[in-house]
Amino acid sequence: MNQAGSLQLEDSKYTFVAPSDSVKEGEMIEVSIGKETVVVARVHGSVHAVDGICTHAYSELVDGELEDHCLYCPLHFACFDIRNGSVVEGPADEPLSVYSVMEQDGSIWVKG
Ligand code: FES
Repeated sequence: MNQAGSLQLEDSKYTFVAPSDSVKEGEMIEVSIGKETVVVARVHGSVHAVDGICTHAYSELVDGELEDHCLYCPLHFACFDIRNGSVVEGPADEPLSVYSVMEQDGSIWVKG
């Protein structure tokens, strides 16, 4: 640990975002990493992190629905794959950015 809330792993900087038990199966939370809004979700036991703002228009994705790996935007219902940010269903046509996640010792860390 080089400072409160960050961890240096090789040349990658991960930021602590939440305790593991705060992201339950099939649920998501919104966190801030620097200036970025990020959604952190757990699906089938794995934690994923993607941009928290829809690429179609401004909408906070944490207010949407998570069904299996599909994250539905609350505004126009585009579906993004939470694993890789890809668009599964429009109207969005740009993918979400994906963040590397590390879960260790009851904590979730996101590279950002
Ligand atoms: S703002 Fe997300 S689909 Fe339109």
